[in-house]
Amino acid sequence: MLVPDASHNDQCGIAAKPWPEHTADFRSDLMAGIPPAARDAMLLAATQDPEMGARNDPHQSRLERTVADLTGFEDALFLPTCTLANQIALRLWCRPGDAMVAAADSHVAGHEASSTAGLSGVTVRRLPGVRGHLSPAAIQAALAQPRRPEEQPTRLVWLENTHMRAGGTVPPDGWTAAIAAACRDTGVRLHIDGSRLWNAEPATGLPLAVLAAGADSLSLSLNKALGAPAGSLLLGSRPFIREALAVRATLGANWRPVGFLAAGALEAVQGRSARLKEDHRRAKLLHCGLSHALGPSAGEAPDTNIVLVTAPPGIPAADAAATLKVAGILVLPLDRATLRFVVHARIDDSAIARAVEATARILVATPVKPG
Ligand SMILES: Cc1ncc(COP(=O)(O)O)c(C=O)c1O
Repeated sequence: MLVPDASHNDQCGIAAKPWPEHTADFRSDLMAGIPPAARDAMLLAATQDPEMGARNDPHQSRLERTVADLTGFEDALFLPTCTLANQIALRLWCRPGDAMVAAADSHVAGHEASSTAGLSGVTVRRLPGVRGHLSPAAIQAALAQPRRPEEQPTRLVWLENTHMRAGGTVPPDGWTAAIAAACRDTGVRLHIDGSRLWNAEPATGLPLAVLAAGADSLSLSLNKALGAPAGSLLLGSRPFIREALAVRATLGANWRPVGFLAAGALEAVQGRSARLKEDHRRAKLLHCGLSHALGPSAGEAPDTNIVLVTAPPGIPAADAAATLKVAGILVLPLDRATLRFVVHARIDDSAIARAVEATARILVATPVKPG
């Protein structure tokens, strides 16, 4: 019989007991829940008369202005999803038949591939990244490469910060600025998918405006680590956002009235700092405990809030996730071999302790299936 082993927790100073009975949901930071201040702001906004126009709600304007100022862009547009923000940027920077450069395992080239090709008709030139990030040298080489007349012209470089598939990694210092300079020199536009750029801020100690400096456009999720009820933002110049408004309407996403959602999102943005630092601290504890238990299968120490674990050979990640679920730990199988743990506001220290104990017990003890 297997005896639960808390020694991995002890080694990392993780406060282990008592463990609550409820399920700990590590699948996504979408599960963070709405912070109390955001809930209050939404309730208050819901008692006020809504505005009818596409963009004249005062809560929406305040959210867009605040985040435009934080990130150093002229203007911002509140949208339902980050996929939509990304796809509007693609539409505006590329014509059907154009190409763009992105890391092979970026969201736009993977989860969003059908939108990228189907909605925007854009081909992705996939380059290998370093911990998910394209180096300035790789981009310079790709942009300098002569294109044959029949090949699509490259109009856009696409970065993702933090990089989800690589485990919430941030790029090395100076890479984004160097890439922005290479794009400027060659007349190619630069977009940052900053779905989780919020997490890069405490991880690097750099303000959002520095992290996004030099980009022509930026997309941000509001409903992941921040815990806003819904939504994303697309940021860029005033003329770019004016055009984005028209594309938003074309795609049927002229959502109204959304003042109460924007009011919640603004509170979530303003309260982000302490929240995200705690998530990163706990992700490091989780990784520490899992490393003690599993060794290198626990992956690299996290930069931010995501820990990727490799399931033992012969055990599909989906099977490992199903077994963990029985133990009250929900994780996401990212592919056949990788389990994703995302730390967010609903994950407390005792959830970390439980996750370490259960994962160690299940992944170390699971017998390898023959063949
Ligand atoms: C890096 C990245 N970009 C974009 C998205 C799309 O966000 P949404 O689900 O709001 O469309 C995600 C979703 O997880 C993501 O991880």
